[in-house]
Amino acid sequence: MKILLIGKTGQVGGELNSIVGDLGTLITLDREQMDLSKPNSIEPAILEIQPDIIINAAAYTAVDKAEDEPELAMTVNGVAPGIMANTAKKVGAGLIHYSTDYVFDGHSDKLYREEDSPCPVNVYGKSKLAGEKAIIEAKIPYLILRTSWVYSLHGKSFLKTIKKLSTEKDTLRIVDDQIGSPTWARSIALATHEILGYCSRKEWLKKPDPSLSGIFHLTCQGNTSWYGFAKEILKLSGEDLNTQLSPIPTSEYPTPAARPLYSVLCNEKVKNIFDIEMPHWLNAIKICLNEKS
Ligand SMILES: NC(=O)c1ccc[n+]([C@@H]2O[C@H](COP(=O)([O-])OP(=O)(O)OC[C@H]3O[C@@H](n4cnc5c(N)ncnc54)[C@H](OP(=O)(O)O)[C@@H]3O)[C@@H](O)[C@H]2O)c1
Repeated sequence: MKILLIGKTGQVGGELNSIVGDLGTLITLDREQMDLSKPNSIEPAILEIQPDIIINAAAYTAVDKAEDEPELAMTVNGVAPGIMANTAKKVGAGLIHYSTDYVFDGHSDKLYREEDSPCPVNVYGKSKLAGEKAIIEAKIPYLILRTSWVYSLHGKSFLKTIKKLSTEKDTLRIVDDQIGSPTWARSIALATHEILGYCSRKEWLKKPDPSLSGIFHLTCQGNTSWYGFAKEILKLSGEDLNTQLSPIPTSEYPTPAARPLYSVLCNEKVKNIFDIEMPHWLNAIKICLNEKS
């Protein structure tokens, strides 16, 4: 199996790059080799490689900046995945792609399921939803794995920001009324590895099975607020001694992009179809932060 990984410098892509190689021949393309903001570069690069599986971990992920760069966000997140999917069709490949809890508006008070209607409240969410739709339209074997609040020790994330700010400031005011599931990039990559292994054993590409294509929610279990997340980061980092955390409502921390107040995803489908049991976020973050020492 020839696996093409796009976005290996990102949080999820970096973890995938370390672990999916044992499932086949791994080929990676970074931004210099294939710039998703230049859609014309996508098809030729994929045709040359002739992969069996494309894993797209690349995305425009700057949620606030996207409000000022809607066209760029839409090209990278909405248009590029569609081109990948249509090229996958030409070479007979399957596509694994990641999407986001931010396709929902957050007005629910119960776990979001895959069949719930999306209604993004910001440019980033709209661009990711456009990418989902473009992939589905291509009618290939595909998996869209929606995840949320991704962190790792590498790259940019809330976890890294809080760790840094805690060394610079005495008090941090953190939003306490947005609820989601912090998800370790490693947990996403390990689950992807399991899923891809399963699909490969089921001869996913030769014997298309509709139950093995679709949207799947894939986050760590449990949920918290950004304040709860920050508290845990400082507790586990041993950096809570000097930094006080102060919980605030979203209204006291205006950002260019609106965010859903509640975006907890239900992982039942990925459990039922692929037998994936995601770790609780409190366990995952403990392992992640232990890793550094
Ligand atoms: N981060 C989150 O909280 C979050 C939440 C929900 C869902 N997701 C989804 O999960 C997936 C992985 O996210 P992540 O946090 O791992 O992302 P990330 O750390 O921000 O990494 C993004 C990756 O995309 C690449 N990229 C961006 N623009 C590109 C372009 N024009 N051409 C080629 N490559 C480009 C980056 O390359 P460079 O290194 O060259 O910039 C990097 O490898 C994405 O689909 C994202 O939408 C993320």
